[in-house]
Amino acid sequence: MNPTTISAFQSLETPFYYYDKALLQSTLRAITDEVSQYDNFHVHYAIKANANPQLLPLIAQEGLGADCVSGGEIQRALDAHFPANQIVFAGVGKTDKEILLALEHDIFSFNVESIPELLVINELAQQVNKIANVCLRINPNVGAHTHTHIVTGLAENKFGIDLSDMLEAIKIAQSLSHIHFKGIHVHIGSQILQMNDYIDQCKSINNMLYWLEQNNIVPEVINVGGGLGIDYQQPERNPIANFKDYFALYAKHLKYKPGQSVHFELGRSIVGQCGALITRVLYVKQNYMHGHVQSSLTTTYPSASITKQFVIVDAGMTELIRPALYQAHHVIVNLTSISPILQTYDVVGPICESSDVFASSIPLPTTQRGDLIAILSAGAYGETMASCYNCRTLPRTYVF
Ligand code: LLP
Repeated sequence: MNPTTISAFQSLETPFYYYDKALLQSTLRAITDEVSQYDNFHVHYAIKANANPQLLPLIAQEGLGADCVSGGEIQRALDAHFPANQIVFAGVGKTDKEILLALEHDIFSFNVESIPELLVINELAQQVNKIANVCLRINPNVGAHTHTHIVTGLAENKFGIDLSDMLEAIKIAQSLSHIHFKGIHVHIGSQILQMNDYIDQCKSINNMLYWLEQNNIVPEVINVGGGLGIDYQQPERNPIANFKDYFALYAKHLKYKPGQSVHFELGRSIVGQCGALITRVLYVKQNYMHGHVQSSLTTTYPSASITKQFVIVDAGMTELIRPALYQAHHVIVNLTSISPILQTYDVVGPICESSDVFASSIPLPTTQRGDLIAILSAGAYGETMASCYNCRTLPRTYVF
């Protein structure tokens, strides 16, 4: 982070999210440059990763579509001028109101996750005299090397229609008067860095396509979801994900035909690295780990042994829940300490939960009250997952 940016932070009330506009724009350009090499590839930005109204128009302006999972996200996408005919809408529990909103705007496709949902969409479309464009989200029973909470493509996960029901579901979709069956959707998980997982996904989709072809079904749309991971370990060295290899992998391994379009739903890899959570140090304190339990009846105390040093900052799991929820690693930097001495600290928030810890036993230069701390790679699933627990206010945000 450059000194001008850091000095601009000094006068701002913490905690807040800072988004680096130039990095977001170069990331978007890296995507559009790659995608333009393939005639039929289309990217929809997964709004759930970051729905900040200052960022969304920048993404829409680059020509990306939107991937939404609620009526609220659809409205945000429309407000940011994502074209309605580039909006996809997934989610296992779409409400009637959300479905009607999507129908009203003639979105690109509903990613339908069950046969009962398909029937409801047909009924509602009939009521408002619309034809609903539908892709069926298929659960491929393919795993991924990522945190168990963000694997979505296993049979045990709630997402999608079971592979064994795929044909029946498509036949139902094709028979319904107010449904236009467009294709299939398969998303296997998030923060995936092992490219082999995507090859497995392609193989599984190829099998589906083969099976469908045997039944005279050729989908117009193949939506492969999102999931491309970012480098949380070395964000400053690798600020932009490897989009070249990612798209090339699908071009090589997915057996799509001319006339079929391939859709991607990227979230984290678009916004993850451009965001940092900026927080101020409130207190630094030490706790001692004692060798044995004290008796309340004696007045002798065991001598203190290992020291733990806590840096207590004004942001907590309410602003960034990823470390508490997924044991996620985020690089933490002291932006203002000029000390040459490194010390070992736990960086913790003020929330009344023991899991409100951003990092344990990390080296930082000697840190004191008032120092500014940056928690990096926080642009995806940071601000959108913030809460008001402990009656806190949602974090402020700055884009420059
Ligand atoms: N498409 C579908 C159907 C999804 O469920 C998701 C993410 C995406 C696309 C976008 O995936 P991405 O490209 O961002 O990996 N809160 C978690 C991540 C949850 C991901 C949910 N689904 C985290 O902080 O790691």
